[in-house]
Amino acid sequence: MSFIKQTNKLITDKVKNMKVTIVGAGNVGATCADVISYRGIASEVVLLDIKEGFAEGKALDITQCATNTGFNTKVSGVTNDYSKTAGSDVVVITSGIPRKPGMTREELIGINAGIVKTVAENVLKYSPDTIIVVVSNPMDTMTYLALKATGLPKNRIIGMGGALDSSRFRAYLSLALDKPANDISAMVIGGHGDTTMIPLTRLASYNGIPVSQFLSEEVLQKVAADTMVGGATLTGLLGTSAWYAPGASVAYLVDSILNDQKKMIACSVFVEGEYGQNDICIGVPCIIGKNGIEEIVDIHLNDQEKALFAKSADAVRSMNDALKSILV
Ligand code: NAI
Ligand code: 2OP
Repeated sequence: MSFIKQTNKLITDKVKNMKVTIVGAGNVGATCADVISYRGIASEVVLLDIKEGFAEGKALDITQCATNTGFNTKVSGVTNDYSKTAGSDVVVITSGIPRKPGMTREELIGINAGIVKTVAENVLKYSPDTIIVVVSNPMDTMTYLALKATGLPKNRIIGMGGALDSSRFRAYLSLALDKPANDISAMVIGGHGDTTMIPLTRLASYNGIPVSQFLSEEVLQKVAADTMVGGATLTGLLGTSAWYAPGASVAYLVDSILNDQKKMIACSVFVEGEYGQNDICIGVPCIIGKNGIEEIVDIHLNDQEKALFAKSADAVRSMNDALKSILV
């Protein structure tokens, strides 16, 4: 009986009319749809892909889990028909190509920029009030592109990367400490790139106690280094980029929006003076609620962290230069 209670994720009143569209029904998009459904985060999920029948197939497969995992979210799939996405509260963009072994996120830019711009414009035709979550890489640059191409207010364009990088950071800390990841609080800010992300080791804690009380500086540096190449490590092992943790991280973010949870999540957002930066989208701690980005939290960085953040911002800015021909 308690098992049934635990697993039967019926839609609560709060999310009973909440619709999420996920563009790109590939590894990340489909995983995200799966997690959103079995956790009852939205009442309706639409998967959209350009590959004929692909989104329909993924949606049907997820739908057939309902009686086993116990959910009643309606999941459907469509081939490039944006009319079916009408009235979405949140649209997640995962369409694009993933990183291949040896390929940097940066190399993806040319291909994914054209896709993300077209997709963002299409979704807004049918869901003019939606909040857009950008996942496609290079994510900070794609978030900036979506913001500039659509002209939406900055609270409605959210780049997902920090949620994933922070969850990898907590996972590596959990392994080093041999303690549960959920007892660990830690955040990664900066760009979503192997050399641009900044795991904030100084502020990481185990049940409120600084992790530096349990781990040597050497181990902490190794944890930070493993976190930074977390995505590349998985790409090397899997032959394509990861999807379980990315899909779950998107679902976590969508949950905070639809359920107005006001969670603090590191997200890529357009900065206007915050952390000393302007005119880029970069990962900073944000309060996420029904209005999307509701606040950028100003945490006090030390001089070393400030220097790392400035360097990260320079790298993100220079990657955005590649958009110049696309944004004219
Ligand atoms: P995937 O190849 O499994 O799925 C991508 C899907 O997008 C494919 O099914 C493809 O048919 C579809 N697609 C391509 N062009 C489209 C268009 N114009 N309209 C609709 N659908 C279209 O790739 P995966 O692994 O799901 O990764 C997706 C993206 O997410 C990649 O750019 C990857 O680098 C990025 N990513 C970002 C992460 C982050 O933390 N921001 C984490 C993991 C992946
Ligand atoms: C990841 O971090 C490649 O952005 C992707 O797994």
